[in-house]
Formats: sequence, C-alpha cells, structure tokens
Amino acid sequence: MPIAIGADHGGFSLKQDIVARLRAGGREVTDLGAPILDPADDYPDFALAVAREVAEGRAERGVLICGSGVGAAIAANKVKGARASICHDCYSAAQGVEHDDMNILVLGARVIGTELARVLIDAFLQAKFTAESRHQRRLNKVLAAERDA
Ligand code: RB5
Repeated sequence: MPIAIGADHGGFSLKQDIVARLRAGGREVTDLGAPILDPADDYPDFALAVAREVAEGRAERGVLICGSGVGAAIAANKVKGARASICHDCYSAAQGVEHDDMNILVLGARVIGTELARVLIDAFLQAKFTAESRHQRRLNKVLAAERDA
C-alpha cells in the first residue's frame, strides 16, 4: 500500500526531495500535490487530500508538509480516522505511532532541514502501533470521542 504525501508552497521543495527519496528506496508513493510551486496555493487542500487517502484506506500512512506544519496538522485532523501530528524529533515520530497510532506525520519545512526530515520519516514509517492494552484503551477513547463528535 502506498504512502500518501502532500505539501503546499511552504513544503513543496521538501516534498519533491522526499518523494524522490522514498521512490528511490522502493516505496510506492501517492503524491497528492502540489504539482508545481504555486505561492497562492492553500495547505488545507493538500492536508485534506492526504488525510482522506489514509482514512479511506487507499494509503498506509501519510506525510504532510507545510511551512510550520501547524496548518496542515489542524486541517488533517478534521478528517475522521486521521491522526496527524507535527513531530520534529525522532522520539515522537516513532512513539506517536507506537503508542497513539499516529497515521500522518506532519513536518514544517521552514523549521527543519532536509536531513532531519528524512530521518523523521524513516522513524515514522518503521514504527508500528504496539496495541498494548493501555495504548489500545486510550486509542479507543479517542475513537469514541471522534464517533460522538
Ligand atoms: C504558507 O505561507 C504557510 O502559512 C503554511 O505553509 C503553513 O505554515 C501553515 O501552517
């Protein structure tokens, strides 16, 4: 199953680098744009597209990039089934999956550099949800809240 990726103009250049690197490493990638650097584009368009791709089961995980990561994370989490977070440290990029079943990693291209982004994405993609009972119990509470919203 592919990895879905999206970025606005703030993350466009980093996205191009990451897509090329993931594909060179043999990963299937669904690039949901932006297709060109357009300073007038809007991060929710790409965030919602990636979040829907993951939540509807067409992608295993998602990676979103905007300038800070903030806007894309806020927008992605409006989609039921999306669990998106900015992680600019390796511990959180892996632990967010292992404990919280995070399915979308969000990066701020104006905050971190290319090499850190690569390491963070590797940590995110290699991590698995442990499904230990305490983590599953907490996730169930999040899912119940989402159902009731
Ligand atoms: C775009 O200029 C910028 O606001 C956007 O990429 C992001 O940082 C929003 O959170």
